[in-house]
Amino acid sequence: MSDKLWIFDTTLRDGEQVPGCQLNTQEKIIVAKALEDLGVDIIEAGFPISSPGDFKSVEEISKAVSNPIICALSRAVQKDIEVAADSLKYAKKGRIHTGIGVSPEHIKYKLRSDPDEIIRRGVAAVKLARNFVDDVEFYAEDAGRAEHDFLAKIIEEVIKAGATVVNIPDTTGYCLPEQYGGFISMLKNRVPNIDKAIISTHCHNDLGMATANTIAGVQAGARQVEVTINGIGERAGNTSMEEVVMAIKCHGSIPVETSIDTPKIYGTSRLVSKLMNMPVQPNKAIVGRNAFAHSSGIHQDGVLKHRENYEIMDPKDVGVAESSIVLTARSGRAALKHHLDALGVELEGEELREVYEQFLLLADKKRDIGRKDLMSLVGKYVSDS
Ligand code: KIV
Ligand code: ZN
Repeated sequence: MSDKLWIFDTTLRDGEQVPGCQLNTQEKIIVAKALEDLGVDIIEAGFPISSPGDFKSVEEISKAVSNPIICALSRAVQKDIEVAADSLKYAKKGRIHTGIGVSPEHIKYKLRSDPDEIIRRGVAAVKLARNFVDDVEFYAEDAGRAEHDFLAKIIEEVIKAGATVVNIPDTTGYCLPEQYGGFISMLKNRVPNIDKAIISTHCHNDLGMATANTIAGVQAGARQVEVTINGIGERAGNTSMEEVVMAIKCHGSIPVETSIDTPKIYGTSRLVSKLMNMPVQPNKAIVGRNAFAHSSGIHQDGVLKHRENYEIMDPKDVGVAESSIVLTARSGRAALKHHLDALGVELEGEELREVYEQFLLLADKKRDIGRKDLMSLVGKYVSDS
């Protein structure tokens, strides 16, 4: 039996913090509805104290969507929590996400405080938030650089205070997978009341480890993952939802399942990219333009013989209609034949060899070989037949 893995999407909060990606309320509602349709469990809709616009967006998203839990971020500050609670008044299911820095760096330089005071503030924030909602998530900011003893202590105390979810962010994207998974195992082993809360991952991608760290966290026992569409987010971004969901789907050995309707992934990715004016890199896993494009002769021949030779997932499972065989100077005869067949030009033997030679000469000069180029290469054979 698989456990449920809760998908917490923070595209509209951590993702939207990226310069140039800001959305207005109407656009946020469009994204929130797409996330609901995709099957996301929790939508982090904003940081209501940060601006009147963000407050309004959380309110309007709460009205517009029904199934997902709507989450509002706050610092461990009374006014933040009160404003977050107010912004959630129309939510069918509302969650306050509150927290404080827990690494030595954050405690000393950012908060200019000491460990006991941090625990006191974390506990007070959770208690206050519980006066407004039953569902309170505590984030231990910069947990990726925290000391194990201190992290275990504060997590135990906030769960006693009523936290239903405990979020262990690798805020600076510093951890390696073994280290990040180690934090989650340590909490599972050392915090006596840990089973009263769900452990959440929240990873940043500064070293390109966000997905690997998130999966390591899940393997160690986390049952919520905080992710964004296309991995957008501060600096190098957050964990990408599509990568985590498909890694879990492809590896039956990870004993969890998500409620994501995976064929809707690609459409949601395009929508977010367009509204946020944030292009997706062509080689981005799952949703990049080249994710299912085969361009070298050996791979093309292999994939044409049997898709699974070079594809670990069916493109349809993520909403991409089909894989593509791209014609380049590295393409082989099988790829050329595949394209010619699709144009209704069936060449074999010597004829195919001749056209292939001409094709290579052209492909060395021209990056994109399209229909028109092919038709002019095979013109002679088409008119002769
Ligand atoms: O990266 C982080 O620590 C965060 C928290 C506010 C959850 O985004
Ligand atoms: Zn973050």
